[in-house]
Amino acid sequence: MKSALEAIRAAAHEQLQNTADLKDLEEIRIKFLGKKGELTAILKQMGKLTPEERPVMGQLANEVRAFIEEELATRQKALQEAATKEKLRQETLDVTMPGKTRSLGHKHPLTLVLDEVKEIFIGMGFDIVQGPEVELDYYNFEALNLPKDHPARDTQDTFYITDNILLRTQTSPMQVRTMEQRKPPLRIIAPGRVYRSDAVDATHSPVFHQIEGLVVDKGITMADLKGCLEAIVKRLYGQDAVVRFRPHHFPFTEPSAEVDIQCFGCHGEGCRLCKGEGWIEILGCGMVHPKVLSNCGIDPEVYSGFAFGIGLERLVMGRYSIDDLRLFYENDLRFLEQF
Ligand code: DAH
Repeated sequence: MKSALEAIRAAAHEQLQNTADLKDLEEIRIKFLGKKGELTAILKQMGKLTPEERPVMGQLANEVRAFIEEELATRQKALQEAATKEKLRQETLDVTMPGKTRSLGHKHPLTLVLDEVKEIFIGMGFDIVQGPEVELDYYNFEALNLPKDHPARDTQDTFYITDNILLRTQTSPMQVRTMEQRKPPLRIIAPGRVYRSDAVDATHSPVFHQIEGLVVDKGITMADLKGCLEAIVKRLYGQDAVVRFRPHHFPFTEPSAEVDIQCFGCHGEGCRLCKGEGWIEILGCGMVHPKVLSNCGIDPEVYSGFAFGIGLERLVMGRYSIDDLRLFYENDLRFLEQF
């Protein structure tokens, strides 16, 4: 029995030294010290020993058990430490490594300039209003002093949905909608998409953007209109921008004008950007026609107002010297990333 115990001690020692795995360690424990383990099996044979041998063997068996338990504990500790070290090594972060950069999206040039325009108007006390792109004929034409047979309707090639419903050709219907809902004094701008059945080319698109403006109060004159629009243009294009008002006709304003800015490309000489004109038209405007005021329930004897419609694309093209409007809608990153 003594040699059997010594053999167990030696075998356990050898196996423990040779394992590098915590799971194996547990198996070794069960194999030698478990209920059905080798040491337990030997102890069960103690009954066969003589009374003299029994305490000697008992003591030896206890020593062997203590030895194995101690070796198990030491080995377990060593293996756990090694495992922790390895885990830490694998999880080490090199904080000096360069980061992965993600490219951020940014605003479209139309949005950039629109945001700027809104900011300027808000600063002048205007509210921003929005309305439907699918519009009634009444708001788009009729109430704006363009009855059904009016020749000026032909100048705006309209997408009709039914006889009475259309895609708005201008943001001017927002003048009517606003005056129906609010009473003067009022100052609003209404930016948005408008639609015309035009073929696409460098200066035309079936969808584009306008910014409508409307001011109605007592005693509003053409001087207010000029002052307001000149201030806007100078804020957008710089103090030395040159503006000109040119007489024009719109059915919903009287008198009416168009506003041009002097071309930046050539300072009025004529170049490709301004098609040789020296000037770029950016908006239509005028004093709100008395008929439009009364159509909206506002007494033209008491109130007067001015209105304007800015072409957003034109504004942005002038601002950044862009000579083809299609660039705005094609989403070519080589173009968009320049802003
Ligand atoms: N709605 C006009 C157009 O699309 C532009 C315009 C002209 C708007 C004069 C106005 C205005 O408010 O007063 O051509």
